[in-house]
Order: sequence, then C-alpha cells, then structure tokens
Amino acid sequence: MSEPTWTSEKLRRLVHREIGDYRLIVVSNRQPYIHELIEGKMHIASPAGGLTTAIDPLMQECGGTWVAYGGGEGDLYAVDEKNRIQVPSDDPSYTLRLVWLTQQEQQGYYNGFSNEGLWPLCHNAFIEPTFQTSDWHTYKSVNSVFAKQVLDEVDGRPAAVFTQDYHLALLPRMLRQADPTIITGQFWHIPWPTYEIFRICPWGDQLLDGLLGNDLLGFHIGDHCNNFMEAAARVLGARVHDEYNVVYQNEEPTLVRPFPISVDFEHVSQESQSQEVTDEMGRVMEEMDLGGKVVGLGIDRIDYTKGIPHRIRAIGRFFEVYPDYIGKVVFVQAGVMSRTKIDAYQHLSAEIDEELKAVNDRFGTGNWLPIIYLPDNLSAVTLAALRRIARFCVVSSLHDGMNLVAKEYVASRFDEDGVLILSPFTGAASELTDALIVNPYATDDFADAIRDAVIMPHKERRERMVRMRNVVEENNIFKWAARLFVDMMQGTRRARRPIRSF
Ligand code: F6P
Repeated sequence: MSEPTWTSEKLRRLVHREIGDYRLIVVSNRQPYIHELIEGKMHIASPAGGLTTAIDPLMQECGGTWVAYGGGEGDLYAVDEKNRIQVPSDDPSYTLRLVWLTQQEQQGYYNGFSNEGLWPLCHNAFIEPTFQTSDWHTYKSVNSVFAKQVLDEVDGRPAAVFTQDYHLALLPRMLRQADPTIITGQFWHIPWPTYEIFRICPWGDQLLDGLLGNDLLGFHIGDHCNNFMEAAARVLGARVHDEYNVVYQNEEPTLVRPFPISVDFEHVSQESQSQEVTDEMGRVMEEMDLGGKVVGLGIDRIDYTKGIPHRIRAIGRFFEVYPDYIGKVVFVQAGVMSRTKIDAYQHLSAEIDEELKAVNDRFGTGNWLPIIYLPDNLSAVTLAALRRIARFCVVSSLHDGMNLVAKEYVASRFDEDGVLILSPFTGAASELTDALIVNPYATDDFADAIRDAVIMPHKERRERMVRMRNVVEENNIFKWAARLFVDMMQGTRRARRPIRSF
C-alpha cells in the first residue's frame, strides 16, 4: 500500500511531535530572502535554485531559525541588533539570522573552495577543479564563523541543527566538538563523486571527517550514498555497515540515507491555475509572438552542469534534420546568471552566446527566431506562464543531484499536458521515468527526442504527464522533509546508543 500524500499540515504535526524541547536551526550559505537596495528602495528577492524552493516551505511550516550569509546590499538595514529578521515579510513564520563575511572570505570560501573546487569535483562536467591552499584555509575559517553563530543561537539549549550543502562540510564536526548534545543532520544538495574522483581533493580526509560529525547525512539518491560510504572507508578507514547505511568514525555513527528532494506540488499546481498566470500567458504569447507555434522551454541557472550549449546544439540539429518545423517551433530559454565572478561561468556565458548566434543566424527567418534567450531574472509569474505555454520542457544536465525544474514543470501542468525531455544524469530521472530520457551528449538522439516531443499525440502526453504528476504529488517536499526529520530525530537517538562491534 502506498503512503498517504504528505501535506504541510501533516508535516507540521509531525515536527511538533518529534521536536519536543529541541529547537530547529537550519544553516546554509545562501539566504532564502535577499534584501536588495534598488534606487534607495528595499526589495526582497528569492534566490534561484533548489535550496530555497525546498527548505523555505519547510521552515514556514515548522518555524525555528535559519542561519545564512547575508549577501544582499540591504541586509544590514533589514536586521535587528542580533542580526535577525522575521520572514517572510508578508506573513512571518520563522527567524532568519544573517552572518556577515568579508569580500576576501566570500572569495576564498564561496567562489574559491566551494565553487571552483568542490562544485566541479562533485559534478561530471569535465571542468577541472581548482584547489588553492589559501581558499581551503578561508573555507575552514568561514565554517568556524558559521559554527560560532549557530552555537550562539543554540545557547546551550537542546537543538537540532540541519546544515545544507557543500559550503559547510566542516560545520557539523565543529558543532559536535563544542556541544555533543546537538543533533546534527546535513543534506548534500549535489552529487557525491566516485572514490576515483573524490581522492583528487587534497583535503578529502578533513572534509569526510567534518561530514561524519553529522548524526544523519542525506543525499538525493542511493548511488551518491554509496560513493560517500566508499570514500569514508577508503580515505579514512572508517567502518561502514552497508546493510544499515551507517558509517562509524571514532566509534560515532553517521546514518547515510537517500532522500530525493522535491517541490511543494500543491502550491505549484495551484499557482499555475491563478488568474495572474493566465493573464501573463496572454502577455507573453503576444510579446514573443508565440501564437500558433509549438513552444519548448528551458529554465536554468546559467551553470556548466546544466548542458545548455548541448541543448542549443541539439535544437540546431533538430531544425537541420527536420526543416519542416522552421517557423513553427520556438524554444524559449530562460536563465538566471550565476557565480559570475568565476572564470568557468564567464566562459560558459560566452559559449552560450556563440552557440545561440550560430543557430539563430542559420535558421532564423524574417521575424521568427528558433531560440529566444532570456538570461534575465524573470518573475515567478512569468516563469509559471512559460511552463504552461510550453508543449515541452528540456532539462539536459550533464550531472545534477536532483533538478527541481523538472519537478516544477510537472507540478505546474494541472492540465495534464506537456512533455518532459530529461537527462539520465539527473537524480530526477530515476523518479520521472515517463519523461523522454535522452543523453545530452548524443546530439542526434537529442534532436529526435525534440521531434518526438513535438509530434507526441495528446493522449500519450496526457498519460505520461498523469503518471509523472502522481509521482511528484506523492513524493512531495513535505514527504522529503518528514522522512529526513524523523530519521534525524529518531534514527540518530537510536544510533547513538552504545554500539556492538561487527
Ligand atoms: O544545487 C546546488 C545548490 O547549491 C543549491 O543548493 C542552490 O540552490 C543552488 O546550487 C544555487 O547556488 P548558489 O547559491 O551558488 O547560487
């Protein structure tokens, strides 16, 4: 029998039952609400990416404190003397506590070690990781800045600290050393590489030890858990109990489990039906002259892991092999610029511009362009409108922990229409098996998949979409949070009992 669908209300009841006297503290690099000063006026923006999409609804339900780096120009003016602010501003339900970092700290810890080292190390995108000793030192010291803030927030009271992502791998060990009563859980939002790749990192042993300061460590899929456990065994000589997915470092257990992250299905589906989105559809159709055309859609952070040049090449190939579709199919690529201070991202941006120009120059006719590129931060309403307009959505990541764009597209199609073209190198591919799964490196197959999406009969589109919607509805963000939370609170207490050797 399948589990009943998780709702926000059910999650809230579960959290209140499980948490008892403990305080919930979430820690991440990126904050969920950024205060920007535009022409002297305060604006609140939500950053792109899976982190906010997934954790903000959880915090809104459960309350507690979210500790994050204050990266917005207006942040300093928005917080109180303890660097706290209640969010979301229109209906506050939890506390955001901001941590300040200098530019030099931000450079070494975020741009440097996290995004020029760990990010390419963990993604198979053939970008060589860069490991600078000075960045590593900054990464360590910034992790301890976060640890101090979290410990101040805990203030000696019972607490469960739920850390996010690869920016803070050393934090759990620091917390445990300072206060062993803290329950520590972490979710790693990106893939974990194989041992052969992982051992490239010169400080891999310290990273592993930091992460093994967690009671619970979550990845999206089982393969990443297995890669992590293999690294722990081979690099640190840690004892691994594969049957129960437990790693023992210095006789302390860490549960290592897969938790496929998701979206708030109900919310996305409802929002997509709103009058505002319907009106926006009309505006977008007119502005982009999409009437009577089959529309394809890509929505991405502009990142080399997303396979955007591969996608553009496949679209070019599609028009080359199937010229009948010239003037009849339009691909809208929406993007959010990301990590722009890093060379690899600047190169990617130039590469995308070049590939786009080549396809648009070659196939564009009169006022029709095969690809409309919108690398601006589009509003949530415009993105929702595009998801509804699009006959097909393309997610062509070269490697991706999960990819929530795929799940958002499915959740937004309350009309049970639309085709998802999905890379097998995403975590989402193991759940959304009714997508058209295509290898982004195989340009000819990719072009054929686009054609299959364009000609797929309505009945088949509907059948596939209904099945995918059932999967995302069932495995929604509240189920993800509930499973993680229960394992963090109950599993860890069980696992901390004295252990037998085996
Ligand atoms: O997908 C991994 C991730 O770190 C997410 O957790 C986050 O939402 C996204 O990348 C965005 O990254 P950044 O904070 O560097 O813009």
